[in-house]
Amino acid sequence: MLAAPEASALCGKTVIVTAGPTREKIDDVRFLSNYSSGKMGFAIAAEAARRGAKVRLVTGPVNLPTPPGVERIDVESAAGMLAAARPLFDDCDLFIGAAAVADYRPEAPVAGKIKKKDAEMEIRLVRNPDILAGFANGRKPGQVAVGFALETAGGIDYARRKLVDKRLDLVAFNIYDGRTSGFEVDTNALTLLGRDGNVTELPLLSKEKAAAKLLDAVESILPR
Ligand code: CTP
Ligand code: CA
Repeated sequence: MLAAPEASALCGKTVIVTAGPTREKIDDVRFLSNYSSGKMGFAIAAEAARRGAKVRLVTGPVNLPTPPGVERIDVESAAGMLAAARPLFDDCDLFIGAAAVADYRPEAPVAGKIKKKDAEMEIRLVRNPDILAGFANGRKPGQVAVGFALETAGGIDYARRKLVDKRLDLVAFNIYDGRTSGFEVDTNALTLLGRDGNVTELPLLSKEKAAAKLLDAVESILPR
């Protein structure tokens, strides 16, 4: 059973959710990106709003309707996502990083359109800032930080390392199998890793149900 809104620890809380891919410009007509559909982040935002939270959804380019009651902020790049999210950090109780933020961006996007020339070309990439880690490291006591760790099968140790390295309260380990779980599809199999060592292996669920289960776990660690 889903928690009734008035019974939810999320009721009245301010939540930031990042969602979707980011696009990193190569030139004015091309970009680097990934296959994230935004569905998981949007499902989390929808469910948190349903439970009475004030939700700010910072999303990269996706083809999804804004969930009811959610304040949506559209961005394009990782830098844009950080610029939109950072001013919201202070006034939030919970940050859930569900975006597939591009780890790198072209160092020097070209104005106009690059013309083809040689048989090979190189694009130099530089690291993007980590939005979730930035929040988690700079947060005030009581603010809760939740992340995803998209890994191929067997990657649970990487997920655990992200929990520790980014100083998170909870990580949703998300197996990417290219079929039933991960990007673009409507289902997801999450394993929730808590800072307290708790491990909850969820079955393959719709992204809506997976979002509800994730938020149940978040509620149990949210200060009342
Ligand atoms: N994340 C972020 N900003 C980035 C990169 C990642 O906020 N620049 C967040 C994601 O939203 C996710 C978590 O960090 O909640 C983990 O993202 P993931 O790509 O799985 O891990 P990385 O730390 O980027 O490591 P790697 O891609 O090398 O596995
Ligand atoms: Ca990454």
